[in-house]
Amino acid sequence: MSLLIRGGEIVTAERRYKADVLCDQGAIQAIGPDLEAPSGAEILDAGGLLVMPGGIDPHTHMELPFMGTVASEDFYTGTAAGLAGGNTMIIDFVIPAPGASLLDSYKTWRGWAEKAAADYSFHVAVTHWSDQVHEEMGILTRDHGVNSFKHFMAYKGAIMVDDDILLRSFTRALELGAIPTVHAENGEAVAFMQKSLLAQGITGPEGHALSRPASVEGEAAQRAITIAGLIGAPLYIVHVSTEEAAQAIARARAAGQRVYGEVLPQQLVIDETVYQNKDFATAAAYVMSPPFRPKHHQKALWAGLMSGQLQTTATDHCAFCAPQKAAGKDNFTLIPNGTAGIEDRMSVLWHHGVSTGRLTPSEFVAITSTNTAKIFNIHPRKGAIEIGANADIVLWDASSSRTISAKTHHQNIDFNIYEGMEVTGLAATTISQGKIVWHKGELRTVKGSGRYINRPCFPMTFEALSKINAANKPVGVALMSGQ
Ligand code: URP
Ligand code: ZN
Ligand code: ZN
Repeated sequence: MSLLIRGGEIVTAERRYKADVLCDQGAIQAIGPDLEAPSGAEILDAGGLLVMPGGIDPHTHMELPFMGTVASEDFYTGTAAGLAGGNTMIIDFVIPAPGASLLDSYKTWRGWAEKAAADYSFHVAVTHWSDQVHEEMGILTRDHGVNSFKHFMAYKGAIMVDDDILLRSFTRALELGAIPTVHAENGEAVAFMQKSLLAQGITGPEGHALSRPASVEGEAAQRAITIAGLIGAPLYIVHVSTEEAAQAIARARAAGQRVYGEVLPQQLVIDETVYQNKDFATAAAYVMSPPFRPKHHQKALWAGLMSGQLQTTATDHCAFCAPQKAAGKDNFTLIPNGTAGIEDRMSVLWHHGVSTGRLTPSEFVAITSTNTAKIFNIHPRKGAIEIGANADIVLWDASSSRTISAKTHHQNIDFNIYEGMEVTGLAATTISQGKIVWHKGELRTVKGSGRYINRPCFPMTFEALSKINAANKPVGVALMSGQ
């Protein structure tokens, strides 16, 4: 059945105008004023609402096995909660155990994700190096629609990789036309600080932030940028949380490097004081990496989004309930790292971004959807209101408010990091593949209806990069004849 969205105001990353939108067969078929409803079409009144591309969250960890437990949110509950908040796609992470096959791990994650209610895709993490990894990166890009590889510069003794692996993997990614991404924290420094703090008797969640100060992120971000620059690879840095990292990205971009940065809404509005809470469960609920920061970093992150030096917003949705967090009751290094927030991503960004005048509605669309679609090469299938695009749409009510609470959220976690925050701006209706899946506070999701989204490698960006890299190729000195 087709769906006609009538009387709304379309907002894209480029412009804002009044038009109806006709969806059929999961795609946008027509856009224009006063569209005729085909017979049998469902008509959705969007009067007073903004019609925007559904949000794409490029950083989630549904049912991730991590730090001795498994994230409580699975691919169904997590994507359903995302749809309630106006997000119509996630890019999650395949994280192979060190030594494990990338391809086998990818297949395992694909199996878990079959229950998803919204479209999804995967970045694949490189957690070790071997000829097999080199080979499997090729297979993943060629046969499985993977165009991004993740590298953890932290989590020593688990999934951390060193500079040698970054150099090898970035080189291989460049060769394939895939984009390397990094979690930028100096894992050696973190491990050293953790040991030292524990030895000083600091065992509570405050130790988490103390062990990973801003400089540790700034150094790693700069190092990853340097390595990418050395070999001419592009780079995407996930969860940028410090002024230092944001500045490193801006500097690299000003120098002509293709570097992109992602921001989490929670890092824009919550600060490090949460770790001073005297209730362990509350403080532990905020333990994530990188940790929440002193307030002045928030200003730098907003400025990065406003200037376009930072391009995307994600949640790093990685849900652990209080009994799971309790594993680190006597030792903060054992608290599973992660916070949840996919359901509130769009509202928090609208309220603190658009309502405050930091962002225009079009800039909001860019940072919640379109830029991600472009960087990860799924635009204009995703992130666009255009004929032929996937009918993944959110009808945004910019004037209604709600109070965020774990009591009413749809996320499968017993805590909400935004508890009690009143936000103006919410998803009135969410449409996925042309079907209404969230409407007036009611979820109509279907388990397993989400599709795996192939992301082909990047012909345009890499063609451009290959020209620059060819021009910069080192040339040896030809000795004078007879020598
Ligand atoms: O604390 C976090 N962010 N947990 C998930 C894994 C990661 O580092 O992204
Ligand atoms: Zn991370
Ligand atoms: Zn993450």
